[in-house]
Amino acid sequence: MIKPLVAGNWKMHGNTETASHLAAQLVAQWSDRPVAERSVEMVLFPPSVHLSLVKGAVAGSGIAVGAQNLSQHGSGAYTGEISGDMLVDQGCDYVLVGHSERRDLFGESSATVAEKFKAAQSSGLIPILCVGETLRQRQQEQTVAVVTAQIKAVIDCVGMHNVCRAVVAYEPVWAIGTGETASPEQAQQVHRAIRNQLGEVGLSTRLLYGGSVKASNAAELFGQPDINGGLVGGASLEAIEFFNIVKRAE
Ligand code: PGA
Repeated sequence: MIKPLVAGNWKMHGNTETASHLAAQLVAQWSDRPVAERSVEMVLFPPSVHLSLVKGAVAGSGIAVGAQNLSQHGSGAYTGEISGDMLVDQGCDYVLVGHSERRDLFGESSATVAEKFKAAQSSGLIPILCVGETLRQRQQEQTVAVVTAQIKAVIDCVGMHNVCRAVVAYEPVWAIGTGETASPEQAQQVHRAIRNQLGEVGLSTRLLYGGSVKASNAAELFGQPDINGGLVGGASLEAIEFFNIVKRAE
């Protein structure tokens, strides 16, 4: 049995006040049950400048914290970058790698994504590898080819075993921030293809769905056999809505 994970990607939103308030609200919602009895893992991805603040706010609650990005380099003259070791030092357990906004807006190639994935694991972070097709690629029936190629780039770099130790998030680009969600059947079909690609070692790898997940569609998505939780953007900025999504994964 795979323990589901629900991740909240806050992207570039908020300030110290809203970040601590949101974290405190989630802790209050979440602390009605002992950590050991929870059947879902919750992870928050605040902007990097709020990591230690959020880490402090969720201390002892069982809620984990992760970063939205990291450098592929260990240390050195890389102005503006943040290394995996620095993120661990701030209390991170997870890091997003290859989010479509990083690929599209910041030109991260699959090779760079693979290097970042490797750097994350070298620092002891659990990468959440994000993959997904554009609308045009879906219309051209390239979805599975695109997604499996994005994953293969990482397998080629770190090996199948290491990819299977991580988390993979399928996020169709056309569904991110658009209010459009893949149907549960569409999502399951891609998740099954990913599961098949990972083979025997990937049977217990967590596969998340992302792209306009809301409390109203989460139960159906999370009910699919190869969907083990979600990566939530917009809806994670509202405590009650996000908490309701987390509950749907139980
Ligand atoms: P969304 O974002 O839930 O706002 O569509 C998902 C993501 O980018 O991870």
